[in-house]
Amino acid sequence: MKLIRSSLLSSLMACILAMSVSTLNAAELRYVSGAVGNAIEVFQALVKPWEEATGHSVTLVPMPASTTDQFGQYRLWLAAGNADIDVYQTDVIWAPQLAEQFIDLKESAADLIPLHFPSIIESQTVEDKLVALPIFTDAPALYYRKDLLEKHNQPVPSTWEQLTEVARAVQDAERAEGNEDIWGFVWQGNAYEGLTCDALEWIKSFGGGQIVEPDGTISVNNPQAIAALDLAATWPGTISPPGVLAYQEEESRGVWQTGNAVFMRNWPYAYSLGNSDDSAVKGLFDVTTLPTGGGHDTSAATLGGWNVAVSKYSKNQEAAIDLARYLAGPEAQKLRTLMASNLPTIISLYDDADIAANQPIIPRWKDVFLQAVPRPSAPTKVKYNEVSAKFWSAVHNTLSGDGSAADNLELLELELQDLKGSGW
Ligand code: GLC
Repeated sequence: MKLIRSSLLSSLMACILAMSVSTLNAAELRYVSGAVGNAIEVFQALVKPWEEATGHSVTLVPMPASTTDQFGQYRLWLAAGNADIDVYQTDVIWAPQLAEQFIDLKESAADLIPLHFPSIIESQTVEDKLVALPIFTDAPALYYRKDLLEKHNQPVPSTWEQLTEVARAVQDAERAEGNEDIWGFVWQGNAYEGLTCDALEWIKSFGGGQIVEPDGTISVNNPQAIAALDLAATWPGTISPPGVLAYQEEESRGVWQTGNAVFMRNWPYAYSLGNSDDSAVKGLFDVTTLPTGGGHDTSAATLGGWNVAVSKYSKNQEAAIDLARYLAGPEAQKLRTLMASNLPTIISLYDDADIAANQPIIPRWKDVFLQAVPRPSAPTKVKYNEVSAKFWSAVHNTLSGDGSAADNLELLELELQDLKGSGW
């Protein structure tokens, strides 16, 4: 009896000890991320198995959809040494600007690095420090309504000039039939980082360079860039709603997914959402690469993408690193791709049969993303945000009829020269 009691006691003790050890080690992490599309739902589904396996928990702190607004907030928190946020979801362009506030993940992710596209790892490496681990990459598509083009006997456009005509023709014909809410083309015209992405595509695809070239040369003031902006400035109020000048990704998707646009420029996340059961365009659309323009023959897609970075002020760094590794790894990336049609950064997932069957855009978009044009965040380093803000303002002014493309780009060139002169 005594013997039984003491062994019972000792196993009870062991149990209590194990429990307290696991509670002691269980971290409660806070993760910040913008909430675009079904991002929150996807995140909850992704972290659940990790929480169960590790005993840690993660609270998602949702942020505004705009990457520009997120950046402003994160920069303030990090500058203040905020210890409340452990993991930041970071835009591909932020690495050089926030590098000092995040820990180096090179060693802790050494086994994962070879699984990813080297160019993406490089985009997150600043002076040999791996600032963040990639969770998905981004390269936009031209979404188009197959049914409407067929109905009105119109081609899938291969140039911006042709898109302008086709959008107009289909819009006019549909409206004449009583479809009053239809618009030709929706995109991201708000004054924020998204407009930098869209306008870089117009300019680059017209042969007008990439704002600031990889060697630091300011190239934005040139005839092809002016021609690209001149054409885009004809869209608001004709083939695009006047409100497009306030649209971000989600506003364009809203118009598109309710069936009120013939064309949309957006990232791949809109593909799975557009095919969801509550979408008015389910099964009615396809995607193609963005058009070329101005007689130039190569189209351009801006390189986007998101990563996870661990704050150097986090008090739970070990658990935070483990979470970052998990989210960047093959299992989580596969699930994310299946749920959200985000482009993986793990090379082998482009040959994954489940992904190809469920999200056919993914294997089709491998080359688009591999040839995507980076924004000039590497050459302009800590000044990138200012460069981009000046660029999107010049573009937004032009689109709003506030100054001509030629005048606005000339002014922008001077402003960028000043910024460069003060060091970037
Ligand atoms: C997407 C891209 C990101 C870009 C943003 C602009 O989220 O992945 O890189 O900055 O769009 O709105």
